[in-house]
Amino acid sequence: MSKRTIAYFGATGGSVAASLALALQNGHLCSVLVRTEAKLRALVRERGISDERIASHLTIVTGSVKDPAAVAQTLQAPSKGAGTVDVVISGIGGKPRFTPDPLRPTLEDPTICQDATRMIFDTLRSLGGPKPHFVVISTIGVNQIGRGIPIAMTPLYHWLLTIPHQDVREMETMVMAEMEKPALQRAIRSYLVVRPSLLTDGEMTSMDRIRVASDINPQFGYTISRNDVGMWLFETAVRGTSAHTGGRIVTITG
Ligand SMILES: NC(=O)c1ccc[n+]([C@@H]2O[C@H](COP(=O)([O-])OP(=O)(O)OC[C@H]3O[C@@H](n4cnc5c(N)ncnc54)[C@H](OP(=O)(O)O)[C@@H]3O)[C@@H](O)[C@H]2O)c1
Repeated sequence: MSKRTIAYFGATGGSVAASLALALQNGHLCSVLVRTEAKLRALVRERGISDERIASHLTIVTGSVKDPAAVAQTLQAPSKGAGTVDVVISGIGGKPRFTPDPLRPTLEDPTICQDATRMIFDTLRSLGGPKPHFVVISTIGVNQIGRGIPIAMTPLYHWLLTIPHQDVREMETMVMAEMEKPALQRAIRSYLVVRPSLLTDGEMTSMDRIRVASDINPQFGYTISRNDVGMWLFETAVRGTSAHTGGRIVTITG
């Protein structure tokens, strides 16, 4: 299989870390934007990636996704001169904040998902060159039509998570709006929006244990592990072994 160049955002979260580790194991050239380099190094080492492989295949950029220079550096393909990467995978998300109202949690940064996506798109436009495939982690429960989640989870998703979901909806809208632009004006070549169900810290299983469906007819599962999300992202967006390679919103569940 030909080696890809991949930029990762949110790699100190379990889902993207799992995907990054698989890409490194398989010899792809990766770059990451992280706020804490030590946290990233610990996560990839825990997943069996040697320091030699990190040195030869991973470019670590330290900074915030709100810093245009750091984002530009991450999007520039390692060993491809001025070109941008083949694939961008983002699992940027916010930490929940339960004050002032514990019954209406918000995020420490309530617009982080949309801000990150906007920054990635704006930076890609300013860099020019070949456009990457863009893959972003969203969530179930943000459907405009239909329930999209198991009935028992309705209170959690439609009441407790209202504010975080507003941000994710905005982010998805931004991706769709980008794809509606004329091809020359688009920041990205193609997209895949992945809506996982509630994330757990379970083990990585296998691709045939992950149920995949469209946003219109979702699979009503309860949870999926971050490790399985990472495996699915790797198999689908990097290796291209799954049929769900681009141009869609998909739900995945265990
Ligand atoms: N929790 C769930 O059940 C659930 C369900 C469906 C979807 N999701 C979404 O799935 C995605 C992945 O979730 P996860 O649990 O694997 O990871 P996560 O713990 O939510 O990780 C979020 C990532 O975003 C990074 N980040 C936040 N603000 C940033 C900034 N300003 N600049 C750079 N990086 C920033 C964090 O970096 P730091 O380590 O520096 O904070 C971290 O790497 C998230 O977007 C999450 O919202 C979650």
